[in-house]
Amino acid sequence: MPDEFSGKTALVTGASRGIGAATAIALARRGVARVLVHYNRHREGALETLAQVRAAGADGAALGADLATLAGIESLLAQLPEIDILINNAGSLVRRARLLEFTPQLYDEVMTLNVRSAWAITQAVAPAMIRKGGGIVVNLSSIAARNGGGPGATVYAAAKAAVVAITKGLAKELAPQGIRVNAVSPGTVDNDFHREFSTRQTLDIVLAATPAGRLGTNDDIAGVIVFLCSDAARYLHGQTIEVNGGVLAP
Ligand SMILES: NC(=O)c1ccc[n+]([C@@H]2O[C@H](COP(=O)([O-])OP(=O)(O)OC[C@H]3O[C@@H](n4cnc5c(N)ncnc54)[C@H](OP(=O)(O)O)[C@@H]3O)[C@@H](O)[C@H]2O)c1
Repeated sequence: MPDEFSGKTALVTGASRGIGAATAIALARRGVARVLVHYNRHREGALETLAQVRAAGADGAALGADLATLAGIESLLAQLPEIDILINNAGSLVRRARLLEFTPQLYDEVMTLNVRSAWAITQAVAPAMIRKGGGIVVNLSSIAARNGGGPGATVYAAAKAAVVAITKGLAKELAPQGIRVNAVSPGTVDNDFHREFSTRQTLDIVLAATPAGRLGTNDDIAGVIVFLCSDAARYLHGQTIEVNGGVLAP
């Protein structure tokens, strides 16, 4: 059991902070040999994550790329070695905008970052996984995929619903090759994401409707991601695990 991750290389996108940083560190603590820490704007955060990855005994590197652009996705793919564990975590609402103010550019940005990048990175790492006869992919969806999202977050919600469908489709396609594809769907995590996109008042309303009596933490989500990567989840394929303190989305 302690050796199940030894010799493995993981890539965690969006690991400069939040859920991705917690996941990169948790994977290193579980014995993953090498953790690649991807970031976009917050190189300092990525270097902090990397320092904790190394303190946990893993090797690693920080890789920068803007995954909301096709050129940025290509630049990340050009830097990648063979990956055993892929965590497609980078994502964002980008900007809250309602239907009448939503631009084509914003639509492309939200979809490219949240859907296309996960698809393209999985496509790029899959050949080595297929050759080795094994690999793990965990995608990040959102409770927004089930409830349509909050104000001005409809396209983000649609992107996260696409992630659920891609998770199911690729799980079926890749299971015969020994590759497991699953997703985690967080509810509301009290981190930078909501500091950027929500008010404290909105978070208090969500909190009041959360049976667990608190909002989520980065580690709450990272723990489930690591479980999905582990041998304990060896018969789990194509699932999206809702991690939200008991909030039942319609
Ligand atoms: N927080 C929540 O309540 C919540 C709920 C449901 C789903 N999620 C999903 O969970 C995942 C992680 O979110 P989080 O809460 O940890 O968010 P976060 O704290 O805002 O962190 C977002 C991460 O994604 C990266 N990122 C953002 N825009 C990017 C871009 N254009 N190109 C490349 N990377 C980019 C950021 O990199 P830099 O910092 O380097 O720019 C950062 O590492 C996302 O997919 C999010 O949609 C979050």
